Amino acid sequence: MAPAKAILFGEHFVVNGSRAIATALGLWTQATAYEKPSWPIELESPALGLRCVTGPELSCSSREAAPLLAVAKALRGAGVDVPPARVIISSEAPASAGLGSSASSSAALASALAGLAGADLSREELYQVVMEGERAAHGNPSGVDPAAVIYGGTIIFRKGAGVVGTISPSLSVPLIVADSGARRSTSAPVLSVIRFLDRIGGLRDSMIGLVEQIIDLASDAIRKNSLEDIGNLMNINHGLLSAIGVSTPELEELVHAARRAGALGAKLTGAGWGGSIIAIAPPEKTNDVVSALSARSRWVRALKAGAEGARVVEASN
Ligand code: PMV
Repeated sequence: MAPAKAILFGEHFVVNGSRAIATALGLWTQATAYEKPSWPIELESPALGLRCVTGPELSCSSREAAPLLAVAKALRGAGVDVPPARVIISSEAPASAGLGSSASSSAALASALAGLAGADLSREELYQVVMEGERAAHGNPSGVDPAAVIYGGTIIFRKGAGVVGTISPSLSVPLIVADSGARRSTSAPVLSVIRFLDRIGGLRDSMIGLVEQIIDLASDAIRKNSLEDIGNLMNINHGLLSAIGVSTPELEELVHAARRAGALGAKLTGAGWGGSIIAIAPPEKTNDVVSALSARSRWVRALKAGAEGARVVEASN
């Protein structure tokens, strides 16, 4: 099983050179693998409407299954003897909502198949395997999503370098998450931001430098449990995400509703153009913020940040 994730600071900019801060959320994706005596492998995810039946060549006609098959191939490439199996994937996190459901499905699948094969993958090996799924899902991933769901906790991440720091303990207050309900792919907004940053000349480096400063200040603020500072930095980060064109009227409405109800900070999380927002509030205001968001979103949760990373719960072979 693997947790979902939220990017607290630095999404998009992390694809383009800055660090990001991400946290694992206790919303679990489970891949239950049953060993079969012979091929094919059957992969099913009722939530994603996905069903894929594949022989040892590891391919099927379902486009949605491409990232999962890339993961199975990468497992084989890592020396795991992928066995015939029936695997059912279910998730508490909404799909395509900026909460890392694709990385957690991939991590849960890889852990389940490796567990069934009796292989004990290190976190780094699991990360490399899940990255293949992310590449199949959206060509140019920074790797922050798989790192957050595999390593767990709250991490500071840089593309190419991986996890460059951890922040422990994580946020002392729940992270309030609301899904706008608008589904989108990650690749389209990622490409659009790369083009946008290329067009703005020297401002590109200034914006990335600003995000780097936000990451330094935010790590300090989380470590010192300074909620007001964390909130202000979330608001500034949201302003930058709006400036690079990944917010939407629906996300703005949720962000402003959260702030009006007493949130200290609110921002979109993940790739934007739909998906979710996150907010933090003083403990006595959390319920007010959840109620205000629930009037505008069908999926709102107050979740503990810094959940455990992906793991095998029970390997039966
Ligand atoms: O919306 P998600 O969960 O796919 O998050 C993507 C985060 C980006 O920074 C936009 C892309 C990346 O690869 O880091």
